[in-house]
Amino acid sequence: RAQRSAANILYLALSLTMANSIKAIHASFLHCLANPDVGGQDVVQFIEHGTMLVANGKVIKLGTADSIDVPNNATVVDLSNKLVMPGFVDTHIHFPQVDVIASYGTQLLDWLERYTFPEESRYSDYELAEKTASFFLDELLSNGTTTALVFGTVHPESVDAFFSQAAARNLRMICGKVMMDRNAPSNLTDTPESSFDDSQRLINDWHDKGRLGYAVTPRFAPTSSPEQLAMAQKLLDENPTVHLHTHMAENGNECDWVRELFPDAEDYLAVYEKYKLVRKRSVFAHSIHLSDNAWKRLAKDDAAVSHCPCSNLFIGSGLFDLRAAQKHSVKVGLGTDVGGGDSFSLLRASNEAYKIQQLQNHTLTPEHAFYLATLGGAKALDLDNQIGNFEPGKEADFIVIDEQATPLISRRTSSQTHWRDRLFTLLMLGDDRSIEQTWIMGEPYSPSSL
Ligand code: GUN
Ligand code: ZN
Repeated sequence: RAQRSAANILYLALSLTMANSIKAIHASFLHCLANPDVGGQDVVQFIEHGTMLVANGKVIKLGTADSIDVPNNATVVDLSNKLVMPGFVDTHIHFPQVDVIASYGTQLLDWLERYTFPEESRYSDYELAEKTASFFLDELLSNGTTTALVFGTVHPESVDAFFSQAAARNLRMICGKVMMDRNAPSNLTDTPESSFDDSQRLINDWHDKGRLGYAVTPRFAPTSSPEQLAMAQKLLDENPTVHLHTHMAENGNECDWVRELFPDAEDYLAVYEKYKLVRKRSVFAHSIHLSDNAWKRLAKDDAAVSHCPCSNLFIGSGLFDLRAAQKHSVKVGLGTDVGGGDSFSLLRASNEAYKIQQLQNHTLTPEHAFYLATLGGAKALDLDNQIGNFEPGKEADFIVIDEQATPLISRRTSSQTHWRDRLFTLLMLGDDRSIEQTWIMGEPYSPSSL
């Protein structure tokens, strides 16, 4: 009998906690249900007067306010007249490059040597890495980015520091230690063996722990020996659920250098193919200078690319061929590539992406740009069962948009009623000022809540 009443009390306590954690959020909602390449603007769902029920950090249900039964014990969150959308997904960024953002006067290879390698060499210091990771994550969140695929440095400590800060904020983040054993300063190089051991230790400690994931991260073909690329393959083969994150075909001189270093490879992609690094959950940042044939092979192997418009313009790398990616149905996400990129904002990235397509006589639609920043990014990272939109069961990482963030935006939107026009204004004119709140797993985030 005593046992039964103990069980009853436990049950009561449990159901009270569960009930207390239900939230009913009243707002306007905008999210993608699928890829607009296939369904056009109809795959975007806009609910002007909506209610989203959230419990235990996950979406229970979203619908028009009059179609949703709000439980009596739910906490009501009134965001009516505000626009709520899924948190943005940044598919390529470097946390230890915060302090080289907006570095003057160079393109990729000189930029690496002059600014980036000296900066990254400081990251053997765990405390520095922790402080930078903390700043970096708060900056992402204030820009509305709730998930990112992130480069650390060659030092495993940098990745420990990053994951500990991401875990403290309960964020869904993917990171990895750079593998780099040649063509870089000696205080920034590892060896095939040490890069294998350090990466495997980090996978054991962090991969799939809570909301964290690990990416095997060879920097790019020029800084890894064939032996190290073979170690990257071994890591992927032995840890089948981890990601692969690297750079590819970003800059003309880089592509020439890869041809010299790997004379037997048919093209840049073939270097990665030789070591079976092109697979599901592989993300190739930039992917600008590719042949039609390479696009075909990326699609066949179910790999993804990260389009980083702010970086491609800032360090003068070239114009990404979004049409080729679409033609071959290759998964694409948006990336900021800070510090090559000059902004943390995926709204700024959308603006530059639009202009890059304009220069190639192609029109990037608002729904397609929005997809790239949300569900498209989630699919590129193989996280679309967890994030990317508000389908039931997804994690409730979302942002509250201020559509009156600046006098100019207010003025431009005052005559706009259709969601598609308002979205385009936000994508073209918005930045971190447009992000009023960022919610993580159904809770509002503020830097001071740590
Ligand atoms: N290629 C190799 N390393 C880097 C890097 O740190 N940033 C960019 N944008 N490209 C790279
Ligand atoms: Zn990069």
